[in-house]
Amino acid sequence: MILCRTKTELQDALKAQGANPIIGFVPTMGALHEGHLALVRQAKRENEVVVVSVFVNPIQFNNSEDLEKYPKDLERDLDLLKEVGCDIVFAPDNAEMYPEKPTEIYNFGALETVMEGAFRPGHFNGVAVVVKRLFDLVKPTTAYFGEKDFQQLAIIRALVEQENLAVEIVGCPTVREHDGLAMSSRNTRLSEEDRRIAPQIYKILRDSRDLVDVFTPVQLKTFAEEQLKKIPRTKLEYFEIVNAKTLQPIENWEDCRRRIACVAIWLGDVRLIDNVKI
Ligand code: PAF
Repeated sequence: MILCRTKTELQDALKAQGANPIIGFVPTMGALHEGHLALVRQAKRENEVVVVSVFVNPIQFNNSEDLEKYPKDLERDLDLLKEVGCDIVFAPDNAEMYPEKPTEIYNFGALETVMEGAFRPGHFNGVAVVVKRLFDLVKPTTAYFGEKDFQQLAIIRALVEQENLAVEIVGCPTVREHDGLAMSSRNTRLSEEDRRIAPQIYKILRDSRDLVDVFTPVQLKTFAEEQLKKIPRTKLEYFEIVNAKTLQPIENWEDCRRRIACVAIWLGDVRLIDNVKI
């Protein structure tokens, strides 16, 4: 496995793979868990060369405390990536990624005005800036993203379409702990007590999914919000039932065939997101 800290090192490592290799790419912010490793394993099965980026992208954090507390352990990440057969790791620092203040502005219309976009202003522009730059450097055949960040996946697909990029985007199912909690780098920041409470979030999502025949989407939203607010030590940001393509809230089940219930909730001082197809 080759570790590249600069763009030049990355270009050299890619050149050394021969002419036009089929490249699978997994962009990450490090603090890797089984969810990331599942993406890398899939990339390994489907491509000749696997590239993983590890970069905590400062411009996608709208909260400086969240950025400061974001877990970082490159040595551990490298060990894990080696074990799953990653070929090239690109781990630049801020100056390498942003030698000048980035000025790109993207417009994803209604996709970015709801849910994460509404609560984290500027977040998706920051994601789009870094992902576009990483795609330009790595030139992947296929890039892999987790469905836990469902809205991010929709934004990346929109970015690829808008910029006419020759990369296939693959969304991969959320990997969960044995008790249902969606894997997230932020889970390591949960206190012991909060870690015990956290699986209740997914339980409420599952219960909601089972009540589709009983409630309208609007009634189900109210039900889920009430349940989520009962979890101790939490502060609910949103629970929305949306059209899985447009991400706009639905009022009737007949509005669309693919729907998704998405939640963002603070547990102590950790912000968690999750979703289920509904
Ligand atoms: O999902 C993430 O970890 C990040 O948002 C990404 C896609 C690596 C961009 O920084």
